[in-house]
Amino acid sequence: MAGTRVFRAPGRVNLIGEHTDYNEGFVMPAAINFATTVTVTPRADRRLSVFSENCGDAIEFDLDDPEPRSASHWSDYVRGVAVVLEQSGRRLNGANLRIRGEVPIGSGLSSSAALEVASAHALLANSGHSVPPVALAKLCQRAENEFVGMRCGIMDQLISSCGQADRALMLDCRSLEYTVLPLPAEVRLVICNTMVKHELANTEYNARRAECEAGVHHFAQSRPNVRALRDVTLAELERSRTDLSEVIYRRCRHVISENARVLEAAAALEASDLEAFGQLMNKSHHSLRDDYEVSCKELDLMVELAGQVEGVYGARMTGGGFGGCTISLVKAENVEGFKRRVASGYEQVTGLAPEIYVCTAAQGAAEVI
Ligand code: GLA
Repeated sequence: MAGTRVFRAPGRVNLIGEHTDYNEGFVMPAAINFATTVTVTPRADRRLSVFSENCGDAIEFDLDDPEPRSASHWSDYVRGVAVVLEQSGRRLNGANLRIRGEVPIGSGLSSSAALEVASAHALLANSGHSVPPVALAKLCQRAENEFVGMRCGIMDQLISSCGQADRALMLDCRSLEYTVLPLPAEVRLVICNTMVKHELANTEYNARRAECEAGVHHFAQSRPNVRALRDVTLAELERSRTDLSEVIYRRCRHVISENARVLEAAAALEASDLEAFGQLMNKSHHSLRDDYEVSCKELDLMVELAGQVEGVYGARMTGGGFGGCTISLVKAENVEGFKRRVASGYEQVTGLAPEIYVCTAAQGAAEVI
């Protein structure tokens, strides 16, 4: 049909740097070769009609009168993006949108960010606007924070928008500047889906953010220039140990040590030292499990099984936690053995057949020509 265009935006996997983005720290994600595609066809009115192929379900609303609250429905992400784009002063034209998602939903691979970023591209292009990739990621994050009510950081939207093929990005979540890091050709990013998502994930996520803010509040009392846990060193944390509750202390220890691990991991990748990189991934998992308490028994089991397989440099949970996926860095020649052993070990204990995706790092959002 005349004027029809197609946009796609990828999901992501985070190699290291978990729960650091909203602490203005460092993360190292890669976009993956699973994407959400939005086909947009212009309309003469100001209505948006949105159809999801995955859900077989459609919604329609008027851009002049969008319901301003989330309805806990998949369409919230699209409505939220439309509302935020209009609030940013970009008037949108009406459109029919058709959505097809291939990023596994609710598994910690950022299917929501992929939907937001692809929808933003489609809506903007359909209205003759163009927004630079980092700014577009920030608008999508705002849609998720303010409209959906999930206080996520910037990582997912930014990597979906700015990802590069065969590369990971080391992103400074304070300045939003990033370094592009090569992924050696002899390793594969192997993602194992535990097939569980525990109910409390969003509530616990927002609770962790509040705990980090309590930590910042403590340090800012004596050092007003402390804006985020990014500004606190491990030595300072140790000196304050007795002034903090045990829980806040451990939350801060995770974030501060994880930031240091990301910087070390970037240096290891630049030096092609995959052994060192893998060790940092393992330590990251332990810190998320013990200090930050966002893992779960299924994720721990998956990581443990991965660690027993030959050719695995390191493994950890990836994303927000409480279920979802792990990421393992595996030698290419050992991938088939990895899949067999991890899948059967996991199924034996849990009774669940995991999905295992061998991914490549993909390009960020773009028009499909
Ligand atoms: C979710 C959020 C991200 C980030 C991760 C944890 O994916 O959307 O912003 O905080 O959790 O690292």
